[in-house]
Amino acid sequence: MTAAPLLSVRDLSMTFRTRRGPVKAVDGIGFDLAEGETLGLVGESGCGKSTTGRLIVRLLEPTGGTVSYEGRDISHLRQRELKPLRRRLQMVFQDPHSSLNPRQTVARIIADPLLVQGSPAAEARKRAAELMELVGLIPEHLDRYPHEFSGGQAQRIGIARALATGPRLVIADEPVSALDVSVQAQIVNLMERLQRELGLAYLFIAHDLSVVKRVCARVAVMYLGRIVEIGPKELVYTAPAHPYTSALLSAVPLPDPAAERTRKRITLLGDPPSPAAPPPGCTFHPRCPKAQQRCRTEAPVLRADDGGRQVACHFPEVPGALTLVTRTASP
Ligand SMILES: Nc1ncnc2c1ncn2[C@@H]1O[C@H](COP(=O)(O)OP(=O)(O)OP(=O)(O)O)[C@@H](O)[C@H]1O
Ligand code: SF4
Ligand SMILES: [Mg+2]
Repeated sequence: MTAAPLLSVRDLSMTFRTRRGPVKAVDGIGFDLAEGETLGLVGESGCGKSTTGRLIVRLLEPTGGTVSYEGRDISHLRQRELKPLRRRLQMVFQDPHSSLNPRQTVARIIADPLLVQGSPAAEARKRAAELMELVGLIPEHLDRYPHEFSGGQAQRIGIARALATGPRLVIADEPVSALDVSVQAQIVNLMERLQRELGLAYLFIAHDLSVVKRVCARVAVMYLGRIVEIGPKELVYTAPAHPYTSALLSAVPLPDPAAERTRKRITLLGDPPSPAAPPPGCTFHPRCPKAQQRCRTEAPVLRADDGGRQVACHFPEVPGALTLVTRTASP
């Protein structure tokens, strides 16, 4: 028997109404996330990663599809109903300094979610000190202001704030992208330790595949509002099936110097198109090195292979693996 997933996203869509017309930032995506699991969500700027995160924590209300958390559809809950939910579902943001109020002390910032939930002030302060220690900061620094901390320390504060109410799922929206490379590893280590100790599940958003490689068991690749490939990390990293995944992976430097010297970069033509005017057929076709006539008119749907991976491409890089869906049940 498999337990119900902690998070279940189905056909989720978000169309922003703008003065220049509708913008389909998220266009029918779906995935599950189990208790204690980490799913990486990657893709170029503007592909809809942050919008996905904001829809899941219900900072945005979806225009289509559903988000179920702990077995309950939360897609259209009202503000009042969202308050108890926020305790168990939190978000960490990219730029730690701009996501912390510069006029509040760290004690106030970390304790705020507890105060909102009705905790007495003294209790919230005590918990804030414990949380500082948990994320590797000095509890005596509770009364300092955000500008007195480095970027890495500020992100620790952001993480402590997210953990204050004891969530089971944290949406981490590019939590290390704004940090120095040396500091990135420290924050990733911290997030891994917290996951082990607290049994957290993460949706770990990054634009680059190398950042999520360590932390996630599964990875989803987004392009122009859609998931084009999703599956176990081993499969996606060693044998990417979607040409876009291959291109993203080819941009990642290899640790082995000999391999790095011969690494072939797949250069994609141009920038991603605007979600306000997506190309017809496969939306990746104007940039795809493998595009054929069919790709210009027919949009590929996600299809599953034997290894638990799904790919949306008419001509995937590993066609032999994509057999499941065409198989018919024989007596
Ligand atoms: N509030 C909004 N109103 C209108 N359009 C929006 C809004 N928020 C996002 N968008 C558009 O939706 C698309 C997806 O944006 P989103 O921020 O989700 O992308 P992203 O993958 O997080 O990008 P980045 O890597 O730059 O953070 C973009 O084209 C963006 O301009
Ligand atoms: S469907 Fe065609 S254009 Fe789209 S990714 Fe596959 S090969 Fe490229
Ligand atoms: Mg973003």
